[in-house]
Amino acid sequence: MGERVGSRQGEKGLIIAIDGPAGVGKSTVARLLALRLGYLYLDTGALYRAVAWKVREAGLSPDDRAAITALLPETTLRMECGPELVHVFVDGRDVTGELRTPGVTALASMVSAIPAVREWLLPVQREIGASGSVVAEGRDIGTRVFPKADIKFFLEADADIRATRRHRELVAAGHSVQFDQTKRDLTGRDDRDRSRTVGPLMPAPDAERIDTSSMPAETVVEQMMAVITAKL
Ligand code: DC
Repeated sequence: MGERVGSRQGEKGLIIAIDGPAGVGKSTVARLLALRLGYLYLDTGALYRAVAWKVREAGLSPDDRAAITALLPETTLRMECGPELVHVFVDGRDVTGELRTPGVTALASMVSAIPAVREWLLPVQREIGASGSVVAEGRDIGTRVFPKADIKFFLEADADIRATRRHRELVAAGHSVQFDQTKRDLTGRDDRDRSRTVGPLMPAPDAERIDTSSMPAETVVEQMMAVITAKL
């Protein structure tokens, strides 16, 4: 289900977990960190987005949990991971370029609240990360996917700052959206992430918490590297 491309051979490196809400800078720092360490970057949000893509393709309502659950065993998901490169295939089709549209983003937030979806994605994530040398990023990595991760970070930032970052990304990608709408969508997804019964967004008790509100990504990475170097 998962495939490691260009990973380190013959050396079991660390599993590094990075969790936090949307727009906090997880993807940017996870990618930078993976590059610095020569590790794989595991973007678990892309897996939830891939399921959402399939749900949309099948024409299912996000409320139809029974139909979505029935769709899972008929679905083949494959992810190619490298330090930067992430390709996601659903039933053999490369859907990477279609995963970050506002429609798929909204749907991913809804399908990720379905316990059967989270259960189905657990072995996919664990298979990719199990052999170590991985920086895995998501919402429940340190609490559920890799509760024994060697190092856990939980990133936080003010909601206005997160919405500003997300709005800038959307505009740069050619989407015409208002800032207020972006902020409403983002806080709505946060609420859903925090309140779901399975794998809710929360810091693991042993996670290092970093507030990224006024820190550029490079500074966050330096702070993380200091923690990691002490462990290596
Ligand atoms: O990180 P992202 O925005 O690409 O994630 C897409 C959606 O998937 C988001 O609504 C939260 C959800 N998600 C999750 O529930 N658990 C994860 N480990 C990763 C993402």
